[in-house]
Amino acid sequence: MSAPIRHLLALKGSTEKDIRGILDLAIRYKAERRAISWRPLAGQTWALIFTKSSTRTRVSFEVAIRELGGSALFLNANDLQLGRGEPIKDTARVLGRMVHGAIIRTYAQGDVEEFARYAKIPTVNALTDDEHPCQIIADIQTIEEKLGPIAGRKIAFIGDCACNVARSWVYAAEILKFNLAMAGPEGYQSPVTNRFVTQSHDVREAARDADVLYTDVWVSMGLEAEKAQRAAAFQGFQINHDLLALAKKHAIVQHCLPAYRDQEISEKIFEERQQDIFDEAENRLHAQKGILHWLTEPPVA
Ligand code: CP
Ligand code: NVA
Repeated sequence: MSAPIRHLLALKGSTEKDIRGILDLAIRYKAERRAISWRPLAGQTWALIFTKSSTRTRVSFEVAIRELGGSALFLNANDLQLGRGEPIKDTARVLGRMVHGAIIRTYAQGDVEEFARYAKIPTVNALTDDEHPCQIIADIQTIEEKLGPIAGRKIAFIGDCACNVARSWVYAAEILKFNLAMAGPEGYQSPVTNRFVTQSHDVREAARDADVLYTDVWVSMGLEAEKAQRAAAFQGFQINHDLLALAKKHAIVQHCLPAYRDQEISEKIFEERQQDIFDEAENRLHAQKGILHWLTEPPVA
């Protein structure tokens, strides 16, 4: 029987052991970036198949793959026959015979899952409409670097609580046992929840005594047609000085980026807290290495 293949398709269904395994590697890769001699992807080619735009995820994965000894092959999904209607399961079966792993950014979560099922190579969700697991792993690395263990902390998520990033936060809260206080407008609540999550429309209550204030864009990729309607609905759901004043004294500000100044975050807070935010962006690189390395160490059957 062949060894089981590891994937990172979602935080939903992931375990604390999985996340801690990735984070331990990520911390080591960050601390020893220049010195580390591990090359777990030596001789391998990994495909990045992206249907949506990306700066951080694409660059961090490409650099991580190279620094881990492998080659990265960036494929714009629209340039593939996939864009002309070739089924995912056929694309997956072809790529599965040629490359060693796949990193996919697209719309439907089911598409990434179908790809993984048919390609039979390690597959990573690099953002779907449902989740952004790689982002949240890097965020947790950042928060723990700055504040220590995340368990028992209060993370306030302000803005579009129905978006992919917010949903991955919901799953992470249950896995790592921290409190997630979400505040978003009517109609933009998270469709998933658990006992570690509170949802409201009250940004002040969410921010009060929080250890972390976190936000994401009001208009996620693919929802551009809703821009005007969302701009109206999200008024007031912004990280700014008034909100930060309610958080704990040591509170940090996190934003997955890209940021839209004076929408989900004020220009002033963004620039004042740019160290926290760009440390978070940098950790995407270290976290991707943790993810890639973890994927190449399949669990014993
Ligand atoms: N945060 C994030 O995933 O950024 P990109 O869309 O630039 O990859
Ligand atoms: N929620 C955002 C995240 C961008 C990294 C989006 O899906 O566009």
